[in-house]
Amino acid sequence: MKFFLDTADIEEIKTGIKWGVVDGVTTNPSLYAKVGGSYEEILKEICGLTKGPVSAEVMSDDADGMVKEGLAFAKIAPNIVVKVALTTAGLEAISRLAAEGIKTNCTLIFTANQGLMAAKAGASLISPFVGRLDDINEDGMIVIQELAEIFANYEGLDHCEILAASIRHPRHVTESALAGAHVATMPLKVLEQMTKHPLTDKGIAIFKSDWAKATSGK
Ligand code: G3P
Repeated sequence: MKFFLDTADIEEIKTGIKWGVVDGVTTNPSLYAKVGGSYEEILKEICGLTKGPVSAEVMSDDADGMVKEGLAFAKIAPNIVVKVALTTAGLEAISRLAAEGIKTNCTLIFTANQGLMAAKAGASLISPFVGRLDDINEDGMIVIQELAEIFANYEGLDHCEILAASIRHPRHVTESALAGAHVATMPLKVLEQMTKHPLTDKGIAIFKSDWAKATSGK
């Protein structure tokens, strides 16, 4: 399973990359708003840090505007993936960008049907938002499970990967992996939480203490 970092923060991306487990980056307007500056410059810098896909989100409401923004993003670096919200205009933009050989990530997906539509339109990635569904008393993981089952039923969807997004905690990652998501995108905090276990810390402390005892006086 691939792990993407869901952030526009360069320092966070550098940290995650050092751990050797980051396969790409997703950004969105809210994550960009947290860091500010030039979105284009930030994307350029992120694309220099990872060879993996870097999602850049378009903001137009109409397909022509989305395609125009997407074409401009695609010029930044070869690993840019154009992130497009799931609307009918978004589907048209995805299909037109795919025809130009430009990869897209269809975002704000909350049902399996939305994901299936985006995949059929030619999206390279589809992003069901697990946490935001959990927030409104639904089970976001069901969408991942349904999409994984649908993808397993058909060969024609091989161009597209299921990207579990809006990940809030480590169990979301485990459950997405078990359900068959190809990718999970998460904040650095969740990536770090995934490394933690109190018995690991306790074990290190015991080994240190035993080592000190065994080597004292040598
Ligand atoms: O990148 C989109 C998605 O991961 C957003 O997550 O936490 O704002 O619902 P969140």
